[in-house]
Amino acid sequence: MKNKKTNTWLSQDSTDLIDYYLSSADIIVIERKRFIKLLTNIIGYHFTGNKKLAVLDAGCGDGSIAAHVMEKYPGHSFVLMDGSPEMLTRAREKLRGAENVSFLCRSFEDFCDDSGDGAAYDVIFSSNAIHHLDFTGKSRLYEKLYSALHTGGLFLNFDVVQPSSERSEQWQFNMWRDWMNEQLAAKDRAAELGKHDGLPDLYKSKKDNHPDSLFDQLQVLEKTGFRDVDCFFKHGIFALFGGTK
Ligand SMILES: C[S@@+](CC[C@H](N)C(=O)[O-])C[C@H]1O[C@@H](n2cnc3c(N)ncnc32)[C@H](O)[C@@H]1O
Repeated sequence: MKNKKTNTWLSQDSTDLIDYYLSSADIIVIERKRFIKLLTNIIGYHFTGNKKLAVLDAGCGDGSIAAHVMEKYPGHSFVLMDGSPEMLTRAREKLRGAENVSFLCRSFEDFCDDSGDGAAYDVIFSSNAIHHLDFTGKSRLYEKLYSALHTGGLFLNFDVVQPSSERSEQWQFNMWRDWMNEQLAAKDRAAELGKHDGLPDLYKSKKDNHPDSLFDQLQVLEKTGFRDVDCFFKHGIFALFGGTK
C-alpha cells in the first residue's frame, strides 16, 4: 500500500480538487442522490428494531452523505473519518451543532495499521473513496472494516469500479458523459453542456485512482467473511455493493 504519497486528496494543496468535487458532485457522480436513498433504505431493511446504531462514514468528505443518513436516522451515533484535514474542516462546518457526531482525521492506511480498535460499529458506509487504494490496500481495508463491525453489522460501499474490458470501459465512459450532460440540461445549465466531458479520461489518467473490478471486490468481501455479499445497484462504473458480518 504505497499509494498514500501519490494521493492528491491527502496532500497539502488539495483545495482546488476539493472545491471542484464539492461544487459538482451531484452532476459528476452518477446517481449520487439515488445512492443516498438506497443507502438509507438498506440500513432500514437491515435494522428493524429501535437499537441505537453506531455508524462510521469511511472517507466522509464534507459530511454531506452522513448528514442525509442522520436526517433519516436521528439519535444514532456517527463517526466521520477522512484522511484529509481540509475535508474534515468542511465536514465540521457542515455538521456544526449536530449531536452524537465525532470526527476522525485518519487515512485508511493508518486506520488499517491500528491494532486496538476492535468491533465498534453497526453500519459502515463509504462513498467514492476506497478506489484510492490499490487492490492490496482495499483487501486490507475490507478486513479491517469487517473486524470493526459488530456481528450482524452492515457494510456498504458506493464507488467506481473497473469495467471488464476496454470496449466496455468506453461504453461506460460514454454513459458517464451522457449522465453529466443530462444533469446539466435538467438543471437548466445548457450553456455548460460538455463541460465535464474530459472527466472520464482525466479520472483514468490520474495516479491516485485505482478502481478494481466489482467481481474481484465482491470475492474479496466474501473471502474476508462478509455474508449477503452483493451489488445492489450499478450504473456505468458507479456501483453500490457490500455485505453483512
Ligand atoms: C471523492 S471524495 C468523496 C467524499 C464523500 N464520501 C462523498 O461521497 O461526497 C473522496 C474522499 O476520500 C478521501 N480519501 C481519499 N483517499 C483516502 C485515504 N487513503 N484515506 C482516507 N481518506 C481518503 C478524500 O479525502 C475525500 O474526502
